[in-house]
Amino acid sequence: MAIAVYPGSFDPITFGHLDIATRAAKLFDVVHVVVVHNPNKTARFTSAERVAMIAELLKKEPGNYIVDSLDSGLLVDYCSSVNADVLVKGVRGTTDYEYELPMAQVNKDLIGIETIFLPANPVHGYVSSSLVKQVAELGGDISKYVPDSVAEKLRG
Ligand code: PNS
Repeated sequence: MAIAVYPGSFDPITFGHLDIATRAAKLFDVVHVVVVHNPNKTARFTSAERVAMIAELLKKEPGNYIVDSLDSGLLVDYCSSVNADVLVKGVRGTTDYEYELPMAQVNKDLIGIETIFLPANPVHGYVSSSLVKQVAELGGDISKYVPDSVAEKLRG
């Protein structure tokens, strides 16, 4: 059985993230979607809120998901604790690749785990959680970027 971990801030989850999670679920038997606390980012939602939003959305998707959070510690320790075979990351372009490559190399160094990069669907290529939050805060239409349930939480 192949177990994947798809980590991220997911603050909030976008259609781009959902695309990567559902594609990963076609490749692996179990996909742990893990909300990871990133101290370099100011969070709009608590990790519990993010987990709840993601779990609700993935209930409707085919695939075997476990939605979880990691508020401290190394991602590789989480991976070991669930016997993960692989990490999955979505890559929108060269900037993402340059950001992700050293993390993939360090994670491989630490426990030997491989990272698989899934190219983002170009439809979602330029969408990021940060931009979605900014557009929402300034009253713009975010319906193309996030599911309705997430848009409502951003507005509320
Ligand atoms: O969605 P993000 O914020 O780009 O995701 C980055 C994340 C959270 C996956 C990364 O910062 C991470 O893995 N953090 C956990 C702490 C850790 O293991 N750091 C060493 C990475 S080599």
